[in-house]
Amino acid sequence: MKITINGKLVEAIEGQTVLQASIANGVYIPHLCYHEKVGAAGKCRACVVEIEGMRGLQTSCSVPVRDGMVVNTVSQSALNAQKLVIDLMLSSGTHDCLACEQNGNCELQDAAYFLGIERASVQYGEINREFDTSSEFVYVERNKCISCGRCVAACNTTVVNQVLDFGHRGHHTEIVFDTDKKMGESTCVQCGECSQMCPVGAIVDKNARGKGRPWDQKKVETVCPYCGVGCKLELHVDPKTNKIVKVRGVEDAPTNKGMLCVKGRYGFDFVGHSERLTTPLIKENGQFREASWEEAIELVATKLTEVKDKYGADSIMGLASAKVTNEENYTFQKLMRTAIGTNNVDHCARL
Ligand code: FES
Repeated sequence: MKITINGKLVEAIEGQTVLQASIANGVYIPHLCYHEKVGAAGKCRACVVEIEGMRGLQTSCSVPVRDGMVVNTVSQSALNAQKLVIDLMLSSGTHDCLACEQNGNCELQDAAYFLGIERASVQYGEINREFDTSSEFVYVERNKCISCGRCVAACNTTVVNQVLDFGHRGHHTEIVFDTDKKMGESTCVQCGECSQMCPVGAIVDKNARGKGRPWDQKKVETVCPYCGVGCKLELHVDPKTNKIVKVRGVEDAPTNKGMLCVKGRYGFDFVGHSERLTTPLIKENGQFREASWEEAIELVATKLTEVKDKYGADSIMGLASAKVTNEENYTFQKLMRTAIGTNNVDHCARL
């Protein structure tokens, strides 16, 4: 269908909201509670726009497009309302961008920049919420939380772990884990989806803190090495040290849609670990010594041939790994079946 956004005729798809159609056509509207994955939002009111024929301002994230619709995202009244919402958010927390882990990656910062807000115009009575550093991988700083509810929706309806919720009342409302436990003492499984969904610096990856700014990091897409699902990862790599700083799930990956488990998101320290084996080892007289790949493969082939000649091919079995690719596992079973001549081949994922 065709709709008009800010005087320009653009294409929209049935089922899209006004916000989705605007984003698809390159028109930015501040939005904080909406995320594609958590569906209809309508809570933060940052995305209000004018729509011809509709009374008052409308939240663009919850109004579906209609053919011929005329939308104004930058009318004076829409901008005034967007500014008020963002100003109140900035007023009600400690949004100190300088040392914030999300600086450069913060959606509240983007909205304030877009609307030309340099600082909050009022300051609410301060509530100094304790930092929650109890979990192994996730750092929670509620003073930066804008109560958009994205993490709550993600925990409950996207990954369905049902740990996060809102607790308390009024100005004291805050996100809570289980029955207001510390994150590390709650039933949280540390999948990190809340950190991926948080638009500000309230929930961040603990071990990435202070390890580099987002604009300095190289982004490398790859596939998770842990199991056969094949979740798509985006590694954030510090180009100076070539070390992985953090891992994000790729939002448009059909397999995982940005979601990861604790291993995929946080279990990457093995990659650059000093004890990681990088060369084959051969045991001689009870001691390992380093060997070349040629020597190691030659030795294994000779030993397997000896066993096969003496006891037959079925005296040998092969156990493949879930951490290698599908293609490598295919090659491995081919080796067992055709080179060695046995069907004794299995895979560790069957454990
Ligand atoms: Fe529309 Fe929050 S993004 S109300």
